[in-house]
Amino acid sequence: MNNYDSMSDEVAKLVIAKIRKKPASVLGLATGSTPLGVYELLVEYHENGVDFSQVTTFNLDEYVGLAADHPQSYRHYMEKNLFAKVGLERKRTHIPDGTAADLEAECRRYDELIRSTGGIDLQLLGIGSNAHIGFNEPGTPFGSETQVVDLAESTIRDNARFFASADEVPTQAISMGIKSIMQAKNIILMANGGSKADAVFAAVKGPVTPEVPASVLQLHPSVTVVVDQAAASRL
Ligand code: F6R
Repeated sequence: MNNYDSMSDEVAKLVIAKIRKKPASVLGLATGSTPLGVYELLVEYHENGVDFSQVTTFNLDEYVGLAADHPQSYRHYMEKNLFAKVGLERKRTHIPDGTAADLEAECRRYDELIRSTGGIDLQLLGIGSNAHIGFNEPGTPFGSETQVVDLAESTIRDNARFFASADEVPTQAISMGIKSIMQAKNIILMANGGSKADAVFAAVKGPVTPEVPASVLQLHPSVTVVVDQAAASRL
């Protein structure tokens, strides 16, 4: 894809095609900068008649310790950028609860919930500059299910732009595991910008290794990689 807009356009079309084919689709969603353009386009499609009322969503991750109404929580991000604008039934929107008293139980509950809906039909993924997917940082075993993770120093630095300072970035998150992600029936990996070029190259062309979490996608039967020119510059 030439640029961010064409990447977003392509991914939004794939999501809408899935919803049109199966109105009760289960979507796996990501936060961060990368999917913002896709979410804007999904809102436009909804305004032009696409019905999201039967769609179920599962987000990849949430910061530990941030309540749903914290401006940097991923629940807040999703409300602001998508949920409130496309008529999603809130009871069908799922994000791990980073304030749960028993975080381990929350992780088990989340995987169980995904299984009980029949699994994710289409999972959107961004990629970290260290090739993480979800918040599965380098070294995460491929067999991992949803779990509490310590964020890598580089991730805290990358995400500090959303907070007043790096000190305010939570150091832990609940993230869907690699295995949980790989169980999705279809996956779209998105990336834009030169800061992702090394990660995209390692994920697509490098060896499959837990040191490059996104490289596991080479083992999945249905992955679409949609990247802009800058992120594809090493391919
Ligand atoms: C977000 C997530 C992360 C991001 C990745 C890229 O829910 O799981 O893996 O997709 O950190 O973030 P951005 O898009 O901000 O560059």
